[in-house]
Amino acid sequence: MKISSHTVARMLGAWQQGPGPAHQRLSDKLRLLILDGRLSLGAALPSERDLATALGTSRTTVGTAFRTLVEHGYLATRARTRATVRLPGGTAPERPAGTDPETIDLSFAAPAAPVEILHAAFARALEELPRHFERHGYDRYGIVELREAVARWYQRRGLPTAPDHILITSGAQHALALLTRVLVSPRDKVVIDHPTYPHAITTFTQARARLLPVAVTCSGWDTEQLRAAGRSAGLAYLIPDFHNPTGMRMPTSVRERLRLACPTIVDETMADLALDVPAAEPFALHMPAAISIGSVSKSVWGGLRIGWIRARPPLLERVERARPTTDLGTPVVEQLASAMLLNEDRTVRPETLQQLRVQRDALRQALAEHLPEVRAPQPPGGVTLWASFPAPISSRLAAVAPDHGVTIAAGPRFGVGGTFERNIRLPYTLPPDQLTRAVRRLAQAEQALARGATGTHIPAPIA
Ligand SMILES: Cc1ncc(COP(=O)(O)O)c(C=O)c1O
Repeated sequence: MKISSHTVARMLGAWQQGPGPAHQRLSDKLRLLILDGRLSLGAALPSERDLATALGTSRTTVGTAFRTLVEHGYLATRARTRATVRLPGGTAPERPAGTDPETIDLSFAAPAAPVEILHAAFARALEELPRHFERHGYDRYGIVELREAVARWYQRRGLPTAPDHILITSGAQHALALLTRVLVSPRDKVVIDHPTYPHAITTFTQARARLLPVAVTCSGWDTEQLRAAGRSAGLAYLIPDFHNPTGMRMPTSVRERLRLACPTIVDETMADLALDVPAAEPFALHMPAAISIGSVSKSVWGGLRIGWIRARPPLLERVERARPTTDLGTPVVEQLASAMLLNEDRTVRPETLQQLRVQRDALRQALAEHLPEVRAPQPPGGVTLWASFPAPISSRLAAVAPDHGVTIAAGPRFGVGGTFERNIRLPYTLPPDQLTRAVRRLAQAEQALARGATGTHIPAPIA
């Protein structure tokens, strides 16, 4: 895959800042982008000349940085071809970060399955399944039972919804990818929360959209900035419910005032995970034209791979027509099981919420003890803390941490332009003892970093 000079320049962000010669800062930053997975293995970088122009620097600076990366095994070059990304040793490590069974994986923000209720739901789904055997089983809108159950889920939360406003997908990410295919053309501007969900960033950039990041700060969403950005954009993508990664919830007063001029996708994947506040009302109550996406991945289990789009039927028709190039429907048994869970209101389970509260407390307690300089405000819901270090060490820490038995998602993966180098996302989806051990290991990694350690791990995938 070829990467344009502008894309690399955007990823590099403020690479000029910091001590040392420019070529060294540039090669360090590129190395971290490679280790962090934002420049993927095998990707072809732009030419030295194009990158120098995009960065407003000399070709010598870029050439020297590239040579350093070649010497250290991070770039491969051949005459008359673009430099491609590789790792020292020529191959990916035998075990990419996070796959060692001893390693504690903090890169996934998703809880384990509630075993008993899933068993029960699948047992009943298997009983229901034969009714579907008479038909072919390909259903691009999803089975009626689940569309009805999702519609009822919205109705219970105060938003009138008919089954024909629902299209079932294989998870919320699939919903976002399908909507992007239908709604986004190259060079369209897309408003995003900043930080935001990393796979949304990749989805939009792969569709060659231009991103308009609007900051979500500790005081929340800025209505004026969102409105201003929305005026020049073709689409907005917001996560108003227990936002990933900050865990914040958009207050009702902001929802009531927020009228964006562009189509708006609201990602309600976390909506059921209200820990300290009442469950949020569906966003479309205040913005009826909003396109809502949701799933059972966080409230029940990611392995179900069941999500949905709630939108007006003409848009769903476009999605349905666009769908066959990637898939022809969602597996029926999982749909039946999810319908049962939704019908019985099993997606908001008090036990799950209580377990998350306990784990959140354990994580914050461990941070206070082992990494006291880290700030990690308590989110009102969701599954993640958005922790910040006093210094911009996030990508380097993520590269070193696997050597100490823990993987993390570095802050810049949640933003554009190399921002959030002080942040890491820490999920509280593991049992308390594992979270405490993970933070202890993170503290060791931070100490190693301070002593000059540099890691060589490619990051594990994140969710
Ligand atoms: C905000 C957000 N949207 C979408 C997804 C993807 O969800 P799914 O597993 O349903 O595809 C996630 C998963 O982490 C998420 O946090």
